[in-house]
Amino acid sequence: MPTPHPLSPPSSWVERFAPLVRAGGRVLDLACGGGRHLRLFQRRGHPVVGLDCDLGGVADLDGGADITLVQADLESGDSGFSPESLPVDGRFAGIVVTNYLHRPLFPAILAALEPGGVLIYETFADGNARFGRPSSPDFLLRRGELLEAVRGTLQVVAFEQGEISVPKPAVVQRICAVAGDDPLPL
Ligand SMILES: C[S@@+](CC[C@H](N)C(=O)[O-])C[C@H]1O[C@@H](n2cnc3c(N)ncnc32)[C@H](O)[C@@H]1O
Repeated sequence: MPTPHPLSPPSSWVERFAPLVRAGGRVLDLACGGGRHLRLFQRRGHPVVGLDCDLGGVADLDGGADITLVQADLESGDSGFSPESLPVDGRFAGIVVTNYLHRPLFPAILAALEPGGVLIYETFADGNARFGRPSSPDFLLRRGELLEAVRGTLQVVAFEQGEISVPKPAVVQRICAVAGDDPLPL
């Protein structure tokens, strides 16, 4: 999958649910690419951590206040990712994953949320092949898969799956879900 240009606009799904993340809480963008969501949460006043195997798209953010960039391969080792492996203490008030899928990471992603932490996930899904890449089942969510991934661990705020036309025709699946049992401020 190509890395979006650093100035690509944020996903409307991520923008919609960004206000649910605790004010001032640290946000992790896994496979951050050009950093469109790092930049979104930075503008909203959050300390941000961006992780990618290629940090070229966020080089301009390096050294910024409250920005931590981690170069790592998410697909090596047992899960390829754990909160303890990151150069920051504690868990995350928000985790964003967009246009990236490596299924073995799901448990580690859920475990990296603090109580009340918000997961915002959006990526391509079954049926996308007719629009181009990604087309491999390895990179396409199965019907309802994000719901299954969070079941019993997170509260689902919103879930969608289907065809979109903007920013380009694609089949996607997306979820916003929160750690903990407290009623959600909708
Ligand atoms: C399609 S881009 C999405 C970037 C960003 N999430 C966005 O939506 O703008 C996929 C990203 O996953 C990263 N990536 C792919 N395989 C990876 C791996 N094994 N470990 C870490 N990052 C990886 C790529 O470098 C790329 O930046």
